Amino acid sequence: MKNVIEVQNLTKEYQNGGEQTVALDNINFKLSKGQSCAVVGTSGSGKTTFLQLVGGLDFPTSGKIIINGECINEMSDKELSYFRNDSIGFVFQFFNLQDYLTAKENVMLPALIAKKKYSEIEQKAESLLQKVGLLKEKNRPISQMSGGQMQRVAIARSLINDPEIILADEPTGALDEENAENILNLFEQIGKDGVSVVIITHDNKIAKKFENILKINKGKAVK
Ligand SMILES: Nc1ncnc2c1ncn2[C@@H]1O[C@H](COP(=O)(O)OP(=O)(O)OP(=O)(O)O)[C@@H](O)[C@H]1O
Ligand SMILES: [Mg+2]
Repeated sequence: MKNVIEVQNLTKEYQNGGEQTVALDNINFKLSKGQSCAVVGTSGSGKTTFLQLVGGLDFPTSGKIIINGECINEMSDKELSYFRNDSIGFVFQFFNLQDYLTAKENVMLPALIAKKKYSEIEQKAESLLQKVGLLKEKNRPISQMSGGQMQRVAIARSLINDPEIILADEPTGALDEENAENILNLFEQIGKDGVSVVIITHDNKIAKKFENILKINKGKAVK
């Protein structure tokens, strides 16, 4: 079976002043096309770093990231930004929404960046907001929303460009049980359509729902 994600000997070191942190230490990882995965590990173990590198938001110190057979480390900045916007749906740990825009505008933004027509994506944005239970809030600015509402806007936004891969950093961390369940069902549904979902979670119950688990401990992949 083809791999949607292949990570080879991935290492990331951060330099801050004189101090060096090895955030990821020689990680190898493969995910077959259409499969999903949970990433687990204690706080500071390297999960967010891993997701950012796989999504091409940051560069490794060494090692390779191959997405659908293509090495993203060899892409130009322009290719990389197209790749991110078209192929990857990000749900960030701290949401990264635009405060001054409404929920709907935030959901539409990646599609507008991809030069899709406003009139064509408006309905799609609304249907995604409906799926995360926020249609009524579509015209509210982000600055007036609760943490859980913002998280759900971020999830709707990650789906607007029909990505092949969703990279979600604790996407249910700010949600109550019912909303979390709804989001996990949504991801499961997307998974059935062939999208690979990679989700960071601290919740063992959630992790167990995934056929693949990557456990990271102090930057290393462990069994
Ligand atoms: N920009 C940075 N500069 C220096 N060190 C960093 C930077 N980003 C992360 N780190 C360090 O890298 C390590 C891994 O961080 P990372 O954010 O990947 O952890 P995490 O597993 O996502 O943790 P959490 O569960 O708390 O979100 C930590 O020791 C962190 O302090
Ligand atoms: Mg993190």
